[in-house]
Amino acid sequence: MCGIVAYVGPKDAAPILLEGLQRLEYRGYDSAGLAVVNGKSLKMRKVKGRVADLAEAVPARFKGACGIGHTRWATHGVPSDVNAHPHLDHEQRIAVVHNGIIENADALRQRLEGEGVTFESETDTEVLCHLIARTVKETDSLDDAVRRALKSVVGTYGIAVIDAQRPGEIVVARNGSPIVLGIGEKEMFAASDVAALVRYTRQVVHLEDGELAVLRADGFHTFTSDARETAKEPFTVDWDTGHYDNGGYEHYLLKEISEQPDTVARTLRGRIDDRFHIAHLGGLNMDARETRSFRRVKIIGCGSAYYSGQIGAQLIEELARIPADAEPASEFRYRNPVVEPDTLYVAISQSGETYDTLAAVQELKRKGGRVLGIVNTVGSAIARECDGGLYLHAGPEVSVASTKAFTSTAVSFALLALHLARVRDLSPADGRRICEGLRKLPEQIEQILKLDEHIKTLAEKYAQAPSMMFVGRVRGYPVAREGAQKLKEISYVHAEAYPASELKHGPLALISHELPTVAIVPDDELLDKNLTTLGEIRARSGRILMIGHRTADAADDCVVVPKNETELDPILLTIPLQLFAYHAAVALGRDVDRPRNLAKSVTVE
Ligand code: F6R
Repeated sequence: MCGIVAYVGPKDAAPILLEGLQRLEYRGYDSAGLAVVNGKSLKMRKVKGRVADLAEAVPARFKGACGIGHTRWATHGVPSDVNAHPHLDHEQRIAVVHNGIIENADALRQRLEGEGVTFESETDTEVLCHLIARTVKETDSLDDAVRRALKSVVGTYGIAVIDAQRPGEIVVARNGSPIVLGIGEKEMFAASDVAALVRYTRQVVHLEDGELAVLRADGFHTFTSDARETAKEPFTVDWDTGHYDNGGYEHYLLKEISEQPDTVARTLRGRIDDRFHIAHLGGLNMDARETRSFRRVKIIGCGSAYYSGQIGAQLIEELARIPADAEPASEFRYRNPVVEPDTLYVAISQSGETYDTLAAVQELKRKGGRVLGIVNTVGSAIARECDGGLYLHAGPEVSVASTKAFTSTAVSFALLALHLARVRDLSPADGRRICEGLRKLPEQIEQILKLDEHIKTLAEKYAQAPSMMFVGRVRGYPVAREGAQKLKEISYVHAEAYPASELKHGPLALISHELPTVAIVPDDELLDKNLTTLGEIRARSGRILMIGHRTADAADDCVVVPKNETELDPILLTIPLQLFAYHAAVALGRDVDRPRNLAKSVTVE
């Protein structure tokens, strides 16, 4: 949600921090700030607004080679200058930036107030700052002070701390909110997301929960909350700055939608085995016997990741004939789930840092569950927590709404389903059929993208509706859910998704000329049933936009996409809905890449 950047080295920190914050703006952005150590004092600027506003507020003579920066998405206290980070103590010695939520902030605040501390802001972070400032006086070491202060804290945090008395040193800590260290040439960086680092270095180290690090220009060391040193292996990230440029597109969202022929090809690369018509998935870390032993598959993820998991569950059940279902990770983790030894659990996350999904994985691991991860961000917390899995290789998603990660996740599920199916009973002929279908996807996505102008016209026509219904049957239902999700999150048009079969059990009462329906109607064994549903909507004067493989008289408008193997069709049917939501949002003048109230990675509960 919020973003953290830190730098120590020979250069001026402020421009590096501002550049890093710009890269993180997509995570959350109601205010921004930075602080640097200059001589033996702190300089600090923070503003309500965007990083560009902060850049204007930072004077040219803002010198200091060690600093921390933050973009904030308000949790404790309204967006304002004073609630923005960094937070400083009264003596202006300690500055702290923080992501996450301190759950016992009220109790700590009362205790500190009782000891004479006065607070300027409403934030939980300021509590942390005063705690560290008091502790640092009792010990000669900043890292020891941070470590001891954190002992009284309950909640989640990723923090970066500087001390005016210790120029050239930054202390960072992680518990439930990501912190990545970046290793440069005689300089060190830290951030909440590699996006802020890739311009400067590709050598990174992820902190684990409960770990702290001290950064100096010549290196770093890491240790646990009980002061035991830890050893870390750096690894190289393969995302570069080009991924974070908009490539001449008006919006990152359109760029990421348009990238899908390539991103799907990357997800597939090297994973289709033409000899045995199976998927090569070395990262699963399971032999054929183990892979055969599962009697159920349970998929968890949040939001769009969960909807892609629904597509995945259907693929696994259809191809591998293993009972499979998907559930929101945010629900799963709270209901004390029964964890079975012969169930394969699959966690999905683009960012690999979604707190609810991470907590669900941790609960599964605690109960001895076998968990695979389908994750985009290499080395992220969920990827590290899982027993094995698949990386999407879709490249970073910058726009808040997920598009290319969604399709790559669905494609990954097709590969996983093929793999599970071919070690069981799927025939080589059916295996070949699916392999050939998968190979066709990038080219077919290319064809769908060419429908952009047509979809734009339709989006402009329907965007004025106050609300829209999205319906689909069986394979079409998760597609309808994702279509409704995309529309509401970026255009703010209310949209509701329903199984087409359920319309007559209630929501049909809503249908009228004012409430258009987007109907997902693939050419599958349920086509006739879907056409009957269209007739029912039509009979209530409902307008219909049909997404399918043919046109139909009952529909007012149609988008016809290329046909693939029936099991794979949902992947392609999603793409016109992404374009539809995008153009509807543009037509309504929305901030497409940064929709209100949303942030890219939800690293809090
Ligand atoms: C919707 C969207 C969200 C995410 C969800 C999970 O467009 O982006 O619903 O899918 O917050 O995020 P990840 O996949 O990072 O775990």
